[in-house]
Amino acid sequence: MSAIDWNRMKHDVKIEILNKQHKQLFDTLRALYEAMEDKSDKKALGKVIDNLLLYSKEHLETEEAILEKYGYPDLEEHKKLHEFFVKKINEFHQAYDDHNVMLYFNLAIFIKSWIVNHIEQVDKQYVPFLLEKGAS
Ligand SMILES: [Fe+2]
Ligand SMILES: [Fe+2]
Repeated sequence: MSAIDWNRMKHDVKIEILNKQHKQLFDTLRALYEAMEDKSDKKALGKVIDNLLLYSKEHLETEEAILEKYGYPDLEEHKKLHEFFVKKINEFHQAYDDHNVMLYFNLAIFIKSWIVNHIEQVDKQYVPFLLEKGAS
């Protein structure tokens, strides 16, 4: 497994604040891979989880507020996927105390699949809609 680089072709959602926040998730995945290299440093994993908790609040709320502002028709469905993300991150947060080695791998798989399935697919779906509405 390896980190993923943010890529304009695949990940650009044309809204600067959302791109900036998405890039933070890529950075967090990279930090997770670094934390994996020395699993005795539990603090590094703690920081990754803190960043994910922050991302699940800041980014998801910002994205939903923008979609709401422009009347995005698939907002409710999109929100449900975000709720799933928040639930999973909270589960990882709870599992942190056990400091199980598998936690690193499970978390990395989850973040990676979120980038591939959510940012690359689901988030990209709102791009033509927002462009048409003139959002920036
Ligand atoms: Fe997003
Ligand atoms: Fe999203």
